[in-house]
Amino acid sequence: MGDLTGRRALVCGASRGIGLAAALALASRGASVALLARGATALRAAAEAVSARGAPSVETVSADLDDRDAAEAAVADLVRRWGPVHLWVNNTGGPPGGPLLAATEAAFLAALGRHVLAPQRIAQQLVPGMASEGYGRIVNVLSTSVREPIDGLGVSNLCRAAVAAWAKTLSRELPPGVTINNVLPGYTDTERLGELATAAAGRSGTTPETVRATWAAAAPEGRIGTPAEVGGVIAFLCSPDAAFVRGVSIPVDGGRLRSL
Ligand SMILES: NC(=O)c1ccc[n+]([C@@H]2O[C@H](COP(=O)([O-])OP(=O)(O)OC[C@H]3O[C@@H](n4cnc5c(N)ncnc54)[C@H](OP(=O)(O)O)[C@@H]3O)[C@@H](O)[C@H]2O)c1
Repeated sequence: MGDLTGRRALVCGASRGIGLAAALALASRGASVALLARGATALRAAAEAVSARGAPSVETVSADLDDRDAAEAAVADLVRRWGPVHLWVNNTGGPPGGPLLAATEAAFLAALGRHVLAPQRIAQQLVPGMASEGYGRIVNVLSTSVREPIDGLGVSNLCRAAVAAWAKTLSRELPPGVTINNVLPGYTDTERLGELATAAAGRSGTTPETVRATWAAAAPEGRIGTPAEVGGVIAFLCSPDAAFVRGVSIPVDGGRLRSL
């Protein structure tokens, strides 16, 4: 399904969680994969797993999306070594939680830098190559908060909506053959979710297990999702099968969202 042989993918935030699951899904469909994150040790382990999944070539890019000049230089170096990137999974770590009224200007600026300004630069770097290759797929990993803001994640809610607006606008500008879409993960079993459960348990005086059970019960599917379930939808959006899907947001949340 959705053969990606001959395609080169850059997956950001790829050393664990949803990003790693996306990289594995792309590799199993035949794509070469470059993995970007900050931590070099986790990147090496991820690269081994992606290689074992069948990627013809695997690159690691150790870069911090909070340092936009350095990240831009690292992506430019990858393209020089590797050639144009066809598939880009735009993913990174989420902003810290907390009440919106308590959020500082520094927190807003940091989150907008990582989630909006860094992707803007990478899009400017990668889209010309996608256009010249006649095949491009950009998939943003956002959140169900694009549709329904999540309590206690005020800065994140704002960034996700900003990226969704950015993506919708870009979807009107990109040339034929180059698409951009968003996946909106619901509660998905990653390190990030573990941290959020611990923080929520601390605030409400309960246990992380109880918090996780509440989250699982909130979806008609009655459970927390797996990273692979999100990775599979990302791989579909990267595939030729999704050529006519453009500018949309797809929840992968077990049916938790009530909005249309
Ligand atoms: N898990 C969920 O339930 C869920 C639900 C909705 C939305 N989301 C969103 O989906 C995205 C991925 O979630 P996840 O649960 O997979 O997160 P995760 O487990 O925390 O993984 C985040 C990945 O991004 C990398 N990263 C973090 N900050 C970075 C930076 N400044 N520059 C470059 N790479 C960076 C991390 O590696 P390094 O730390 O080594 O850089 C790691 O590879 C996040 O934006 C999250 O908020 C998650």
